[in-house]
Amino acid sequence: MTHNSLLNLLRGRFAAAIAKLAGDDPSSVDPQLRAAGEPRFGDYQCNAAMALAKLLGAKPRDVAQQIVAAVDLAEDGVSVVEPLEIAGPGFINIRLSNAFLGRYLCEIPAPPAASPTAPPTADGAAPDRSEQRGALRTGWQASLADRLGMPPVSRPQRIVLDYSSPNIAKQMHVGHLRGTILGDCLARTLEFVGHTVIRQNHVGDWGTQFGKLIAWYTEHPVPAGDDSDAVLDAIEADYRAANKRFDADPAFAAAARQAVGRLQGGDAAAREIWQRLYAQSQRAFNEVYARLGATLTDADIRGESFYNDRLAATVDELRRRFSPRGGAEAQTGPRMEVREDQGALCVFLYDTTGQPCFRNAEGGEFPIMIQKSDGAFLYASTDLAAVRYRVQELKADRVIYVIGNEQSRHLQMLFMAARLAGWAPERVRLEHAGHGLVLGPDGKKLTGRHGGSVHLRALLDEAVERARALMEEIDRRREGDETAATLDDEERRRVAACVGIGAVKYADLSHDRNTDYRFDWDKLLALKGNTAPYMLYAYARIRSIYRRAAERAGTIEPYGREAALELGEPAERALALRLARFRETIEVVAADLTPNVLCGYLYELAGDFMRFYEACPVLAAPDESTRLARMRMCDLSARTLKLGLGLLGIETVERM
Ligand code: ARG
Repeated sequence: MTHNSLLNLLRGRFAAAIAKLAGDDPSSVDPQLRAAGEPRFGDYQCNAAMALAKLLGAKPRDVAQQIVAAVDLAEDGVSVVEPLEIAGPGFINIRLSNAFLGRYLCEIPAPPAASPTAPPTADGAAPDRSEQRGALRTGWQASLADRLGMPPVSRPQRIVLDYSSPNIAKQMHVGHLRGTILGDCLARTLEFVGHTVIRQNHVGDWGTQFGKLIAWYTEHPVPAGDDSDAVLDAIEADYRAANKRFDADPAFAAAARQAVGRLQGGDAAAREIWQRLYAQSQRAFNEVYARLGATLTDADIRGESFYNDRLAATVDELRRRFSPRGGAEAQTGPRMEVREDQGALCVFLYDTTGQPCFRNAEGGEFPIMIQKSDGAFLYASTDLAAVRYRVQELKADRVIYVIGNEQSRHLQMLFMAARLAGWAPERVRLEHAGHGLVLGPDGKKLTGRHGGSVHLRALLDEAVERARALMEEIDRRREGDETAATLDDEERRRVAACVGIGAVKYADLSHDRNTDYRFDWDKLLALKGNTAPYMLYAYARIRSIYRRAAERAGTIEPYGREAALELGEPAERALALRLARFRETIEVVAADLTPNVLCGYLYELAGDFMRFYEACPVLAAPDESTRLARMRMCDLSARTLKLGLGLLGIETVERM
């Protein structure tokens, strides 16, 4: 029974009933099963009667009656639901029975023994060696060891996940931060669900800008030093200087152009400089990843340079197969054409009616530029080579690009070209998991103090600092509360790191990823609302309630894990239903790539728990079996929160 989410279980039962009524017509079988919009309509609804009535030429309410009569909702001798109700034109309202709900939750197995919690970012240290991050990855996997009985999907996919992808010789910006946080949550979730996730950090490490840098550093030393942040600042300043000189000094400009060719041709001196820039940049990125607890390792880097020796073949193939003069392949439906435009080689995309699919602001055709007149390849050429590599060599079933929405047109064009070239057959899903901007308090794109780049390290430091202040406030507020935790300095540091970093991550994850959001310290660190501090506090509180109850009973964990659940109290039932819906929530997040849905779920769960705790005292329960049942609810609530937060990439703390 635990092998299925509630939604899937009901969907299966109703689909079978509808199939019986509809005969062989499979088009009508979708049971249109969804969660009820309001509690008065039950827990779920089946809205298939209307469509089925059309098919059968009958009245929807009559068909709803027939579905109700035909559906088998027994499970091991109990009815899954209360008697079904038909509402309005033929909606079937479904309310799960308490007996079933209680048993469904009771089938969640105890957590596997000794699941060590990961040590990663908690102390705020910034290890920068990749072995350490390897350890970190194992650490987080262990923290997801308690699967709450969720089996892995029966048909695992190979999913290529392109995320983070900063550019070397530059600071990572908040867009990269958002992409890293979102991508990492998706990586964890998809892996947890049972898929094979192949992380690809498509680092911007190639292109003409390196010509200028190499020419510059042929005359100056590459900045170095302990402080990776300062080193990147210095490199950025040098780049600005090199750019100025490029415009003013023809000899330097010539040297820079030449350097691009030298680098791409493998010249040792040019490569040396590039490698140094790489090493400095990578160190800074890794510091940020470590602070965030991101699961990216050096092995996940497949930067633009990786595709260098595939670019010519990629572009040549397109030219050969799709240029109008070269006897282009016959194409029916949408098609593409490769031809020169103002000296550059471009891919033009047309719809079935022959109209250009993409236009520029002036209304002209907007192509993908794949090779400049001087022979240089571009961002899009690399992406074309990459999509081919991902499908053909990495054998992806699904390729997900976690990139800002500014690039959505680039990706639409890329996907269309890859399809038309036959490099990505229809069975492979290509997806842009786009995201909006992070805005400053002024509502404009978030920038650093002087309008320059935001220093992510400073931002994360500030988050931890503010979290520490928040904890002092918590202490003041609950003076006299016997549940109050007393933390030593060490623990306090750890908690502040979890809360501070967690708050930054949660802010990214809890917003619909497609929308822009305002980065507001007070909001993201608020102790009330859909925030990390609230969630972490709720978790720590449930744990403390559980611990105290166990102590009072003179026992230790696990206590109450075997208790039967009656769910007589409405608040208790509401919490039980919420807990049971964790599975379908994860299924949605994995299918739609929507971490905010998980955040919303966890927030509701925390609220349901608080209402439960108010209505159903645990310590002061009227009798022993009730207390045990309530403790079991505490245990399940805490474990669900911990797992959910773990999927978001947020470490929980036992006390706060
Ligand atoms: N480096 C790019 C940037 O900073 C992002 C690359 C995203 N991935 C890709 N396959 N294009 O904007």
